[in-house]
Amino acid sequence: MNQPLRVGIAGLGTVGASAVRLLESRSNGLVPRTGRALRITGLSARTRERDRGFDPAPYSWFDDATALASNPDIDIFVELIGGEDGPALDAVRAALKAGKHVVTANKALIAKHGLALGRLAAEHDVQIGFEAAVAGGIPVIKTLREALAGNEVDHVSGILNGTCNYILTRMQQDRIGFDECLAEAQRLGYAEADPTFDVQGYDTAHKLAILTSLAFGTEIDAESVYVEGITSITLADLDAADELGYKIKLLGVAQRTESGIEQRVHPTMIPKSAAIAQIDGVLNGVAIDGDAVGQVVLVGPGAGGDATASAVIADLADIARGLKIPAFGRPPETLAPYTRARMRRHEGGYYIRFSVVDRPGAFARIATCMADNDISLESIVQRKRAVRSAPAAETEPHAQQPVVLLTYETTEAAIRQALETIETAGVIASKPQIIRIEAARTA
Ligand code: HSE
Repeated sequence: MNQPLRVGIAGLGTVGASAVRLLESRSNGLVPRTGRALRITGLSARTRERDRGFDPAPYSWFDDATALASNPDIDIFVELIGGEDGPALDAVRAALKAGKHVVTANKALIAKHGLALGRLAAEHDVQIGFEAAVAGGIPVIKTLREALAGNEVDHVSGILNGTCNYILTRMQQDRIGFDECLAEAQRLGYAEADPTFDVQGYDTAHKLAILTSLAFGTEIDAESVYVEGITSITLADLDAADELGYKIKLLGVAQRTESGIEQRVHPTMIPKSAAIAQIDGVLNGVAIDGDAVGQVVLVGPGAGGDATASAVIADLADIARGLKIPAFGRPPETLAPYTRARMRRHEGGYYIRFSVVDRPGAFARIATCMADNDISLESIVQRKRAVRSAPAAETEPHAQQPVVLLTYETTEAAIRQALETIETAGVIASKPQIIRIEAARTA
């Protein structure tokens, strides 16, 4: 029987504490599946004295994560500190250089430094696993890296942030305001330490950039992801979408186009009949289109301690089995440079909600701007009329009329041009709300 693999875990927040508890309770049960036991030997966090649901006494304690990472008494370093640079990066680099395997749930770190860390791991002949970095407990990294190796993938899309999906679901189902839903997601341990990363779409962008690399065999380029978050989505939009037969989800999409690979994160209208539209609450879902397999849809919990720890243990089990695989499924030097498809070239349908100034000819002007840019309208819905009140000031002489347009497929460039003209024409009272519509294939 091989010696147990010794595990050091740094970062004992929601995921770290769950990982310790899960490993303590499952380590014996894992042996028949891995052929080798996994034993925690060292822990590191900012404070030792906190009730985390386990007793830290049997383990060596390290105030400094980097000291744990390079300690001779560990074989695998588990980084659950978070943050794209700083202590997490220092500790992971130290571990790899010291010849330790690394397991991390840190999407920001992998999105920014994954390629360099993958190279470092290859140089030192060790593994770096990051299953927990994308979509919590869903085994999407393994699926793209290993299970779909026989496919050319041309499209990956997903609900990749549990916090945003939870907020959008609760806002609509329970008529609760955005701030209250976010506070609840934080209380449940779904949100990032800084929740603006969730709601402004950056967490999804980090995860998407990782999936893009795995799906298309390209170098990671998180800087090139087009990002919009969910902070501007209102109940009015969720209700309008519902009436029109759609759900609104924060989607990350990577797709091959003639001009390169498009990477975009934005609130998206998805037909209610689509599989991904049914994915509510903290659940995440990823749809992958492969040329041989067709479409594969994976659904599961995208955030939370135990769900994410489940993915950490999966990586540990692979290392215990002796699985050797490059970080992104192929040797780092064979990854192709990423070629960005510009967002202006994106093609699709659009939902646009205007507050139209209520005066003769205002709507006609909007329709003309759309036609001038070759944009065909699929439907026009006049929402409930705002209460007409006395003008508040000279600058606000008219009531506003909420109007929702759905366009047929057009280009982002045409939409931007039309909206620029409409905004300068003085016929709308505030910035229009734009939500892109995803065709049914993302279902
Ligand atoms: N804050 C993330 C989410 C946690 O809400 O999905 C998992 O990465």
